[in-house]
Amino acid sequence: MSAPLPIPKLELRGVSKTFGGRKILDCVDISVERGRSLVIIGASGQGKSVTLKIAVGLMRPDKGQVFMDGEDMTELRTAERSRLHGRLGMLFQGAALFDSLKVWQNVAFRLINADKVPRKEARERAIEAIARVGLPRDVADRFPSELSGGMQKRVGLARAVVAHPDILFFDEPTTGLDPITSDVINDLIIEEVKRLGCTAVSITHDMNSARRIGDEIAMLHGGKIVWRGPAKTIDETDNPYVLQFINGRAHGPITCDA
Ligand SMILES: Nc1ncnc2c1ncn2[C@@H]1O[C@H](COP(=O)(O)OP(=O)(O)OP(=O)(O)O)[C@@H](O)[C@H]1O
Ligand SMILES: [Mg+2]
Repeated sequence: MSAPLPIPKLELRGVSKTFGGRKILDCVDISVERGRSLVIIGASGQGKSVTLKIAVGLMRPDKGQVFMDGEDMTELRTAERSRLHGRLGMLFQGAALFDSLKVWQNVAFRLINADKVPRKEARERAIEAIARVGLPRDVADRFPSELSGGMQKRVGLARAVVAHPDILFFDEPTTGLDPITSDVINDLIIEEVKRLGCTAVSITHDMNSARRIGDEIAMLHGGKIVWRGPAKTIDETDNPYVLQFINGRAHGPITCDA
């Protein structure tokens, strides 16, 4: 008898989502094994952020299910869902920090508001996370608007990891950053995922970042996963969508509406 297959850390099964009559996701299946890092690539507007929002429970699919550790998130009661959501961390596209809160309050937000960690301890843990992502400690008492884009991404990363999640989601972690800062962020992501022994799901259209942080890459196009494989093999594929995307060609099966 063959051994049972391990339960994936995350599984999207038959997920569909339509906005204004346009089907953004069309029966998408994605599974990620525990401890693996999957990167989802795809052109702008193809539903990458929507996929992530559905995976973390910020958006409900029209059809399909999301399993975390084998539990159907779409079926769970609110309290149960919160328990599972407590084990995930997310870095949003554009960092999405609260402007009116100081940096440490942003990082400690969940510790204080969801985990009911005492304020003093939450502040200490936030400052520790801020230092771990390479920011000076005095940044803790500044406001997000006083920081550069790269520093804001670091704060977003500190916020994502502060509660020691076992699955991390990154939406465009390097978009809008210069190549050097991007590489620093890639290194930090790799370091934190390794330190926490996490599963990671990232979205990017930065191929350098995808190759660095992904064990595997999946490409989303036209509401479907059109290719998936080990990050190392992406340059060997003859898939026309992947070829056009990674080579940044204007001509091919992907048409640009912009
Ligand atoms: N809440 C919403 N209401 C209506 N339409 C939405 C909503 N969220 C996303 N969409 C639409 O769904 C499509 C996919 O959006 P999404 O943000 O997932 O794209 P993306 O692949 O992340 O693109 P980008 O690379 O530019 O971030 C877009 O056409 C967008 O306008
Ligand atoms: Mg997006």
